[in-house]
Amino acid sequence: MKRDFISMFDLTKDEMHEIFDLTKRLKESQKKGVEHKILKDKTLAMVFEKPSLRTRVTFETGMTQLGGHAIYLAPADTKLGTRESVPDAAKNLSRWVDLIMARVFAHKTVEQLAKNAAIPVINGLCDLEHPCQVMCDLFTVIEKKGSLKNITIAYIGDGNNVCNSFIAASSVLRFKLAIATPQGYEPSKNYVAKNKTTQLTNDPEKAINDADIIYTDVWVSMGQEKEAEQRKKIFMPFQLNKELLRTARKKYLIMHCLPAHRGEEITDEVIDGPHSIVFDQAENRLHIQKAIMVWLSQKSS
Ligand code: CP
Ligand code: NVA
Repeated sequence: MKRDFISMFDLTKDEMHEIFDLTKRLKESQKKGVEHKILKDKTLAMVFEKPSLRTRVTFETGMTQLGGHAIYLAPADTKLGTRESVPDAAKNLSRWVDLIMARVFAHKTVEQLAKNAAIPVINGLCDLEHPCQVMCDLFTVIEKKGSLKNITIAYIGDGNNVCNSFIAASSVLRFKLAIATPQGYEPSKNYVAKNKTTQLTNDPEKAINDADIIYTDVWVSMGQEKEAEQRKKIFMPFQLNKELLRTARKKYLIMHCLPAHRGEEITDEVIDGPHSIVFDQAENRLHIQKAIMVWLSQKSS
């Protein structure tokens, strides 16, 4: 049976660790210049309804390094659901390519793609989750800290797609997660209900107090541009700046999925400061993406 990766809830703890181990091996091969064309002659279709730098470049580069090929389908190319129904697009792509990665507005769209495709479908971000990002982030934490044991991650800002994927991941992997959002911008109630251990607060100091990792994301996600001015005012007390971080532990690490809106959710001195690992984190998108594609292909064959 084919496997998809639509949500962090799709993988067991052991499966996540299989992917982390594979990521480590693929990263080592890449660094040493050892050829690893595991997906030779395979094709990935990349369907985008929204813009991207990291997701697009890492999936495409990853596929090249694995010996395969990636096709970029811009929003105007496919016009999912308008030019053609989502199920029909999934059925067509299944006849030609080996994998689909989709970045969409609605979670339902990526679910429909997965349901109707005969090949693995990967969620490259939707309104509900960003699972590839959070796999990358947790791999990066393991690299830096050795494991997720006794690790506390503080997520500060908007209770958005990235935040929901962290809640799902923490319910599977059991690391401690503290989330601080403004009132009314909490993460998905369904996700919180599935992970009773998540600490939710409206006080950023309280969340970062005991954190090994302090994580933030943009205050205005793609598709929310109309709310930008209002959000920027409401979220200001949640900015990662020097003053807020004075209350953190000595050895904290700063993470951000990027793109960063410098001067909004994070200041220059914090993102460029000695605690920041954001570009190591961004590099790992390449390695995790490769592992996710290889793992899904092997499990589906
Ligand atoms: N973090 C991330 O997904 O970046 P892009 O939006 O540039 O792909
Ligand atoms: N929450 C952000 C993540 C960008 C990678 C968004 O959805 O725009």
